[in-house]
Amino acid sequence: MECRPARASDLDRIIETDIAASQLYAAAPYDTLGIAASRSPELEAFYLARIAEGLCLVAEGGNGVCGFAAGIAHGADLFLCEVNVMPDHQKRGIGTMLIDRLCQVAAGSGMTRVVLSTFTRPPWNAPFYRRIGFADMARKDYAGWMERLYEFECRRFDISTRVFMSRPLSRTA
Ligand SMILES: CC(C)(COP(=O)(O)OP(=O)(O)OC[C@H]1O[C@@H](n2cnc3c(N)ncnc32)[C@H](O)[C@@H]1OP(=O)(O)O)[C@@H](O)C(=O)NCCC(=O)NCCS
Repeated sequence: MECRPARASDLDRIIETDIAASQLYAAAPYDTLGIAASRSPELEAFYLARIAEGLCLVAEGGNGVCGFAAGIAHGADLFLCEVNVMPDHQKRGIGTMLIDRLCQVAAGSGMTRVVLSTFTRPPWNAPFYRRIGFADMARKDYAGWMERLYEFECRRFDISTRVFMSRPLSRTA
């Protein structure tokens, strides 16, 4: 399995992966209604921007791209905004590999912390991230850009089902 920077030509497969992976929530008994992804011009533009910024990596095997991770730089913070793996490739370490490699890219450009927001209960959300070194954040530690995201999430979700998490980045990560 190779991990490489995404290209604009990966866009269709990235969106297919996003939509397919989001089905994991539909089948699960958690408070994650409304999370299913769908294709739109906004989503296409969103991923093309991440690709252009060099903060989108894909995992590629014999059958092509099967996963990706994407981030947004906020000063010294990398916001890990998306990580998705095709359902038939999940639970083989690909998600962990993509996150670690994106963290290496961010550390290499001088960023010092990776932050994400996720659901508390599904085992592939907060419990998974805790296992790979992320820690829950207290509101007092939110940066300004996180406060804006928090306000957005308050409108979109039952905020008690969400958690912000972070992991330090080091150049040797
Ligand atoms: C999160 C995601 C990218 C992880 O990708 P992955 O390649 O399966 O990741 P890994 O194999 O490195 O580790 C997955 C861990 O998550 C948990 N997990 C994943 N799928 C699970 C499932 N269906 N049921 C229970 N636990 C699950 C397990 O702890 C698993 O570790 P294990 O295989 O050692 O038990 C993938 O589950 C996915 O695409 N989910 C849907 C989209 C999503 O939730 N994105 C993140 C939003 S914050």
